[in-house]
Amino acid sequence: MATDIESVLKEQRVFPPPDEFAASAHVKSLAEYQRIYKLSVDDPEAFWAGIARELDWFKPWDKVLEWEPPNAKWFVGAECNISYNCLDRHLSTWRRNKAAIIWEGEPGDIRVYTYQMLHREVSRFAAGLKRLGVQKGDRVALYMPMVPELAISLLACARLGATHSVVFGGFSSDALRDRINDAQAKVVITADGGFRRGAPFPLKEAVDKALTETPSIEKVVVVKRAGNDVVMKPGRDVWWDDAIKDVSADCPAEHLDAEHPLFILYTSGTTGKPKGVVHSTGGYMAHTYLTSKWVFDLKDTDTFWCTADVGWVTGHSYIVYGPLANGATILMYEGVPNHPEPDRFWDIIERHQVSVLYTAPTAIRTFTRWGDEWPNKHDLSSLRLLGTVGEPINPEAWMWYRDVIGGNRCPIVDTWWQTETGGIMLTPLPGATPTKPGSATLPFPGVVPEIVTHDGKPVGDNEGGYLIIKKPWPGMLRTIYNDHERFKEQYWSQIPGCYFTGDGARRDEDGYYWVMGRIDDVVNVSGHRLSTMEIESALVSHKQVTEAAVVGRPDEVKGQAISAFVTCAAGTKPDDAFKQELRKHVAKEIGAFAKPDDIRFTDSLPKTRSGKIMRRLLRDLAAGKDTVGDTTTLEDYSVLAKLREDEE
Ligand code: PRX
Repeated sequence: MATDIESVLKEQRVFPPPDEFAASAHVKSLAEYQRIYKLSVDDPEAFWAGIARELDWFKPWDKVLEWEPPNAKWFVGAECNISYNCLDRHLSTWRRNKAAIIWEGEPGDIRVYTYQMLHREVSRFAAGLKRLGVQKGDRVALYMPMVPELAISLLACARLGATHSVVFGGFSSDALRDRINDAQAKVVITADGGFRRGAPFPLKEAVDKALTETPSIEKVVVVKRAGNDVVMKPGRDVWWDDAIKDVSADCPAEHLDAEHPLFILYTSGTTGKPKGVVHSTGGYMAHTYLTSKWVFDLKDTDTFWCTADVGWVTGHSYIVYGPLANGATILMYEGVPNHPEPDRFWDIIERHQVSVLYTAPTAIRTFTRWGDEWPNKHDLSSLRLLGTVGEPINPEAWMWYRDVIGGNRCPIVDTWWQTETGGIMLTPLPGATPTKPGSATLPFPGVVPEIVTHDGKPVGDNEGGYLIIKKPWPGMLRTIYNDHERFKEQYWSQIPGCYFTGDGARRDEDGYYWVMGRIDDVVNVSGHRLSTMEIESALVSHKQVTEAAVVGRPDEVKGQAISAFVTCAAGTKPDDAFKQELRKHVAKEIGAFAKPDDIRFTDSLPKTRSGKIMRRLLRDLAAGKDTVGDTTTLEDYSVLAKLREDEE
């Protein structure tokens, strides 16, 4: 074993693409994939230029790639607009009256936007934003439920060249405030609230609270959605309908440099402070366009449903930009999968005849627990392709997905990528790649991965190591907002010139990649990426907490659960009531989804001589690898650990 990353999964089953599927797929065989892959890595510039030419550019590029590690520029000198490519480009074709978005609200209300209608709404809202003072280069924060106005807002910002920063609606007002301040956003777009589990959840209220400490914000646009009471601050707050009142629908897309920053999306890294990952326009557009087309094998007859929230990168790339650049029909759903009953997803698929479904392993595992009777109540024969993203999928869940949802008929694409990569990196192509349950299989064309030891030496077949990417790709992040040093340090310093993913993986004898998860202090809880440090800093910001250590532990449904070890200030009663208080405190600091699943109080934390918390020990403890029931044993354990360390 070349590293301390251990891989125990050994899966033997292989599922070739069904002949019928392959016959009409964009990429039809493994040989075709291999041929394309070779071309794409022998001459990546020619490959990506060929793809980019399928899209519309206002001005062509002088050069496809300028690579001065770690700084990449794609389509140098070109001008384009992704909103134009997602909308205007289709208006001169028969797609003008094709459904772009079929949206379903949780209460059951449905709205459909054709490309022409969506173009009009986006243009009007862009004009409305302009009237409110938004200009090219400004930052706009979005804190919204999953309503069509969210997609419209993204496309309107992109149309103007205003950089959007979507903050997932599950984040707390404190988290929203920090993200607004980091990006110095000028405008917030929000809603009164959204529907979740049959009841409105308020959003505007959290915005008001955040805005007491965000001097950069000038205006707030509020969508009326849930009907809950809100306070509108005169001069600052504007209803969406008023923002677009009497504006002209003629708002041409700005001609933007290909490297113009399209969006910032905050994500967790190894330190407490979330990072503003910055994506640019032209390269991201080419990458999301092509991956949508080839991975989801998009056809004009498809109805594509990506169940992610637009608050995460999956929603940016595969609800909005990638599929719409392809002129596809997307389905967008506002609420939870078990309202009013646990068959909501299957009901939606049947009623709207969804043909491609893209969801997360944590959701699949939850569905398996709810029982087969829920999907079995519905006709799911419209489905032809299934996808997963967000975390490793265990082979049992994969097999269930294939069998119960896909009727043993639909290929599954297990797609590995990250907020930073912008688009899919490792994935089967459904008509070409034989799949193995639990493997993200092979690199997408143009992507050059490697698995290495900590000093960058490639490891052998089936040996665990660090997953890196050796060559630039168009959708890659360009920087961390206002912190280029951190960008360099975080991603490009471990193995010089290569992108460090932070994931551990192995490659098998067929060249298939098996991603095992993070090797740093990032946890993946129900598809939400969190840094353990972030939760630790939330915990220690409570005045009665002296020290805290947070680790992930395996969880059958959520992938990982959050375990916290806490030492309290003198005089604190470490009881259940205090545990609840701490959980509430973390919800306030970050958001309810970051609440620790279990909290253990301890008099001290196990540390190395240099004072570093011994996380590996805590991880073992949290995972129950050592039966440690109470504080005393933990103390003993820590002493033992120190002794053991001394021996090493
Ligand atoms: O650990 C990997 C895991 O999710 C991380 C990226 O999280 P985030 O930036 O929030 O983006 C999630 C959606 C793209 C990765 O570093 N991950 C994502 N997809 C997979 C995965 N792990 C294994 N298999 C996957 N298919």
